Amino acid sequence: MFLPSLSFLLAIFGFGCCLDNGLMNRPPMGWLAWERFRCNIDCKKDPKNCISERLFMDMADRLAHDGWKELGYNYVNIDDCWMAKRRDASGRLVPDPERFPNGIKALADYIHYKGLKLGIYSDLGVYTCGGYPGTTLDKIEIDAKTFAEWEVDMLKLDGCYSSSAEKAQGYPNMTIALNATGRPIAYSCSWPAYEGGLPPKVNYTFLGDICNLWRNYDDIQDSWDSVLEIIDWFFGNQDNLQPFAGPGKWNDPDMLIVGDFSLSREESKSQMALWAILAAPLFMSNDLRTISKQAKEILQNEMLIKINQDPLGIQGRRILKEKFHIEVYLRPLSNSATALAFFSRRTDMPYHYTTSLKKLNYTGNSAYEAHDVYNKKTVHVLKLETNFTVTVNPSGIVMWYVSPIKDLDPPHKDFQAYYPKRGETDPYFL
Ligand code: GLA
Repeated sequence: MFLPSLSFLLAIFGFGCCLDNGLMNRPPMGWLAWERFRCNIDCKKDPKNCISERLFMDMADRLAHDGWKELGYNYVNIDDCWMAKRRDASGRLVPDPERFPNGIKALADYIHYKGLKLGIYSDLGVYTCGGYPGTTLDKIEIDAKTFAEWEVDMLKLDGCYSSSAEKAQGYPNMTIALNATGRPIAYSCSWPAYEGGLPPKVNYTFLGDICNLWRNYDDIQDSWDSVLEIIDWFFGNQDNLQPFAGPGKWNDPDMLIVGDFSLSREESKSQMALWAILAAPLFMSNDLRTISKQAKEILQNEMLIKINQDPLGIQGRRILKEKFHIEVYLRPLSNSATALAFFSRRTDMPYHYTTSLKKLNYTGNSAYEAHDVYNKKTVHVLKLETNFTVTVNPSGIVMWYVSPIKDLDPPHKDFQAYYPKRGETDPYFL
């Protein structure tokens, strides 16, 4: 990837360097069409599931009326295959007239009326990955203007059918063009995914300046193997990725497939929990009209969402890989809390894993309260040295929200053993 320096950009373009929309201080949440509905354009045979304004209005209705919006799931995002095969006479993109008869502006109005936001898709290149008109370098400005006129709130800019050099020019140029519209439009860049996702080819410091989120790696598919491959890649490369995420700039491991066809209940809980550890954007790609109660419960888990949305925005890491295929993940949260996850890659039976906070590198003298995120009734009070055992199902996860107990005043006698010494700081969380 060609890495332009900020001064180079300033010299060439004579404007401020960075995306200035002020958006996405927390990982974005919502719904995205691609994984579940792909490029299904056959509205004659499959009117309910084809890429059309009807599909996006249906999903907006569900987000607004089934408790999603209140939890933060507020983007309704169009992906590929929404366009007509040609631009209009003035060079503007147009939606397919049969599938979007009222146009994108009307769809945006509907979605805004529901209290939601609309995302759209384009591709920096000659064609989109699905073969629709792409945003070539000369079309960046006009496309940004068109999206702003339609009152779109987010753009995913894919990277099929362009060279590395074109991407190096085009992605920052789109930042400029979006800024110039004056409309805050969140910007998702697929750039790193096309360049192998790792430094030195990818400059994450620069991406953090010009994009709100970015796809680092391959597309998710509806299979547990695909989820595992993504988990392996993101945590295997955490040293190169984790430091660059933060408020307004997120690594994107791709959509949540919870509620689709392939994942078991345990696998679904694992995807959701690890996406929360990763501070990942939570874009569901499923059918909200028919989603099961079980999947909905996982996706609407308030404690998990609170962890995902933590205001510090620190991405978590894998801290331990046991040789018996249990892994431990940790994400630092605000108020000196942490999210702690015990994940099983075993395929035999539930595993009883015994450890202590001390063994997991917690330091200081505090006592801690550990809330089980999925079994809300379970609360453990733990000193650093206290051994505890979690039972982790095959492909499953136990996720805790751990917070220091500081204000037991006066200490209840049952808690005396756990009571932290006053005045001691906890270097782990500094
Ligand atoms: C690429 C992207 C996907 C999706 C498709 C659409 O593969 O990575 O997320 O947008 O294109 O064609």
